[in-house]
Amino acid sequence: MTTHKEGVNAGPALAFCPVMSNYGAPSITLVEGRGTEVWDNTGKRYLDFLTGLAVTSLGHSNPAVVDAITEQAAKLIHVSNLYNTIPGPEVAIALDQLIQTFPNGAAPTAQRGQVLFQNSGAEANEAAIKLARKYNGRGRHVVLSALRSFHGRTLATLHATGQPEKHEPFQPLPEGFRHAAYDDVGAMESALDPSVGAILVEPIQGEGGVNTPNPKYLSDLRDLCDDRELLLILDEIQTGIARTGAWFGFQHAGILPDIVTMAKGLGNGMPIGAVWAKREVAEAFKPGDHGSTFAGQPLAAAAARAVLKEMARIDAPNLAADRGIELTNALLTLDGVDSVRGAGLLLAAELNESALDGRTGGDVAAALAQEGVLVNGVTKTALRFAPPITVSTAEINEAVAAVDRVLKAGAS
Ligand SMILES: Cc1ncc(COP(=O)(O)O)c(C=O)c1O
Repeated sequence: MTTHKEGVNAGPALAFCPVMSNYGAPSITLVEGRGTEVWDNTGKRYLDFLTGLAVTSLGHSNPAVVDAITEQAAKLIHVSNLYNTIPGPEVAIALDQLIQTFPNGAAPTAQRGQVLFQNSGAEANEAAIKLARKYNGRGRHVVLSALRSFHGRTLATLHATGQPEKHEPFQPLPEGFRHAAYDDVGAMESALDPSVGAILVEPIQGEGGVNTPNPKYLSDLRDLCDDRELLLILDEIQTGIARTGAWFGFQHAGILPDIVTMAKGLGNGMPIGAVWAKREVAEAFKPGDHGSTFAGQPLAAAAARAVLKEMARIDAPNLAADRGIELTNALLTLDGVDSVRGAGLLLAAELNESALDGRTGGDVAAALAQEGVLVNGVTKTALRFAPPITVSTAEINEAVAAVDRVLKAGAS
């Protein structure tokens, strides 16, 4: 299927953009999607190798998710957290089992952890920061995170984000954040003092450039946190829910964090975030300590329940690992690609100078969109690939052939 005609909607031609310009002015208007494919308002087809920034991991309009949303919407959309509902607690149990299952078959800890639902990644991190503060108490409130990290855009998560240039326009930011180099446990150790109560890191830095640490990084950080009685918080918002070839990125390292945050792929596009914590830590939150009107509502939770069930059915972690190897190998055959980093289906291809031909990664991504493939320039010299886990080998080959054409064409 190469074209799509039904339901084409040219959209209103507006002289004035009614939406604030914090995302710039997107040049493509998408109106429909199925699997890896999306169509714009002129009927042009694209392969979506970005999935709304690592969100629609089961592909667009996945029938299992669509059916679950449709059924739940007809039954009960929202009632607030003043009442119990069915889907949320079921998702919480499933997440706890997935988080506490070790790939090497080791038994999970005897105590079950607990989950707090939120509506987005930033909110999940914000809640995790509050939980760490409540657990650690006053005086141990500082969160140490990594340079080049990304943890969200609320004021606190912006300060946790280790990108000083993003802080500047919004100073002063909330107090209690400190940064040290990523993939360098010694640098983290040197940044500790008695006010630090938690270390927050991504297993792979997604927005920062798909920066992939050495395989011992997380287990060394776990040891450091154990020695110094610090909470280890893993931000799995981009890496979690099967994207890197394991249910969660930290599972490649065989460790268990104290707190895990997730969002993005959990709802396959329905807005939902979650914080998991070990029981002892979770119990620091008492009634009234945190809340959100929509968080954990049945509609979003029903989507997450369907996502987890469908991912288990298709063995999404192994599928992501296998397809990731295919995509990596295909990209490495291209003259313009120097190296590929990442894991599973969260990958970045480093482009060489002649392929860039004076262009940035963003320019190349824009040219690729013209060729019908959606990716983004994650750094000035690299493209990020995060296709659906359900992507086919044929779609991988089609996308990589387009990358090859765009790299060979140069800046002309
Ligand atoms: C690792 C990480 N943490 C947090 C966030 C923020 O999530 P959200 O945009 O849902 O607030 C993102 C978003 O890209 C992310 O990649």
